[in-house]
Amino acid sequence: MSNLNKLIALKNKHVFNISPNENVFSALKMLVDNNIGALVVMEQGKTLGLFTERDYARKVVLLGKNSKEVLVAEIMNKQPVILAPKDTIANAMQLMTDKMVRYILIMENEQLLAIVSIGDLVKYIIDQQDQTIQYLNKYISS
Ligand SMILES: NC(=O)c1ccc[n+]([C@@H]2O[C@H](COP(=O)([O-])OP(=O)(O)OC[C@H]3O[C@@H](n4cnc5c(N)ncnc54)[C@H](O)[C@@H]3O)[C@@H](O)[C@H]2O)c1
Repeated sequence: MSNLNKLIALKNKHVFNISPNENVFSALKMLVDNNIGALVVMEQGKTLGLFTERDYARKVVLLGKNSKEVLVAEIMNKQPVILAPKDTIANAMQLMTDKMVRYILIMENEQLLAIVSIGDLVKYIIDQQDQTIQYLNKYISS
């Protein structure tokens, strides 16, 4: 199966990130404004963790906390799943399933290259299958 670098080549290069010192309300606003479900937490170019809607639901709302009083640093996942661009799509799917996460960070030499969501993987696989079906249809009818 393909490597992740094939998938990330098709993606928008910008990765939305937030400082660990911002409050959760600002993070949620950024999620809504950009129609995404996760933000990479960064400080001075260093990747510190991942903030997701799931963190908000479990570590703020259900604990009765106020999103303007909780910092991103307090609830972020400090050990997000990380893969390299040379790792396979199959590897990414396996890790998402095993670790029950929806996002994987793609890093190389400590540099963040991309964020890959479960939706990205599903879309990539469906597109690949469509291409194979089209190729086989052409082959059969030629
Ligand atoms: N049609 C498409 O091209 C497409 C692609 C991906 C997801 N989706 C749909 O969006 C919905 C949720 O998708 P999801 O599971 O991918 O989660 P999501 O809503 O968080 O992600 C949507 C897209 O934004 C990107 N993204 C997420 N966080 C980002 C960040 N911090 N910086 C830069 N990009 C970021 C993802 O990689 C993905 O491409 C699903 O309904 C899915 O089917 C559609």
